[in-house]
Amino acid sequence: MADQEAKLEHEIHAHEDEDPAVHATRRAVLQAAIGVGVAGTLLSTLYVGAGLVPKKVVTPENEPLAAGDILVYAQGDNKDKPISPADLKLGGPQTIAYPMNPKTNVVKGGDPNNTVLVVKLEPSRLSPATAKDAAGGIVAYSGVCKHLGCIVSNWEASTEDFVCPCHQGHYDPANGGKVVSGPPPKPIPQLPIKVENNQIIATAFFVAEPGKEV
Ligand code: FES
Repeated sequence: MADQEAKLEHEIHAHEDEDPAVHATRRAVLQAAIGVGVAGTLLSTLYVGAGLVPKKVVTPENEPLAAGDILVYAQGDNKDKPISPADLKLGGPQTIAYPMNPKTNVVKGGDPNNTVLVVKLEPSRLSPATAKDAAGGIVAYSGVCKHLGCIVSNWEASTEDFVCPCHQGHYDPANGGKVVSGPPPKPIPQLPIKVENNQIIATAFFVAEPGKEV
């Protein structure tokens, strides 16, 4: 590649005494050829580099949320214990949860994209589409902000919005997690749930990919 570039450079300088217009055209064409060559080299380097990025090792703690997982407290005195629907306060705030594999009881807190927000609202407030994936007034959403990936841990009681503490993105849990204000580019995806045996259980994966928008 270096030889090829040297030859092209030589070609440019070998005709410096020709008509200026013709020389300018020759220079542009040859420099474009060098540029394409360099870009090609760069792309192949990136391609090879991408192949070297280590694959994520899946462990029981970071495997993705799945249908049947039980939602447990992610923090506090009851950490890792199933959330009881009766313990949720009507009108919020949200409880931060992780999914737990019901067969192994492993809590999948190893991947931030498994973070879930659970909140209980007046059922009549939910839009029909949101109510479809809710359990009565209990709704669940991905807890990862679509803007830059902070955990959406704050609550605005006057409007019943989830609030991201990083840049004040507001999301509406009664309407599919849609963005009410702030910089997030997309809604946080809802998690379809049911209540069974006094536990909150995921019935499917999130309705869209969780995590910050890339
Ligand atoms: S990371 Fe949530 S609003 Fe910016």
